[in-house]
Amino acid sequence: MADKSALRILLCGFMGSGKTSVGEALAFHLKWNFSDTDSLIEKREGRSVPQIFKEDGEEYFRRAEEEEASLLGRKKKVVISTGGGFLTREETVKALRMADDSSTAVVYLAVDFETCYHRICGSTRPLVAVNTKEELKKIYDNRARLYTAASQYRVENTGEISETVAEIIRVLSL
Ligand code: S3P
Repeated sequence: MADKSALRILLCGFMGSGKTSVGEALAFHLKWNFSDTDSLIEKREGRSVPQIFKEDGEEYFRRAEEEEASLLGRKKKVVISTGGGFLTREETVKALRMADDSSTAVVYLAVDFETCYHRICGSTRPLVAVNTKEELKKIYDNRARLYTAASQYRVENTGEISETVAEIIRVLSL
């Protein structure tokens, strides 16, 4: 169970839920490192996420996420923000569980769809480019269930980032 002994915190949630902003602020507060699965994959691949989707397709990217999940257990005192699809794929969740030494606290950053949509519409995110608002809402609804299943904690990120950070620290007793 994740508590004071949590060595890494994984943030999951829909695109635009603020995983990176909250993750960076949380890491700064805890004096831990910050990592982001999209950036780790981009570094390993030497190309951007939109480029990976365009050149090799979504399934290739999902396998890269799975590979990244299998390496996360090695990192300590780190806050990791994940891409919005990271914990929605069974293989990736399994890879994370296999690599985990029970020190990972998974926190679901919950934000309503309209707020997320407002933040992501017009962005270069591949899923935003190919799906209508209605389709994205369906993906959002489906994923909400998966984020809940994959996480131990649910924290609303609808106010100030500092409030969300304080709430994460409170629920994790850090
Ligand atoms: C994705 C979310 C993106 C990125 C990729 C796919 C998704 O990350 O991993 O474009 O499937 O929701 P953010 O959640 O940081 O936007």
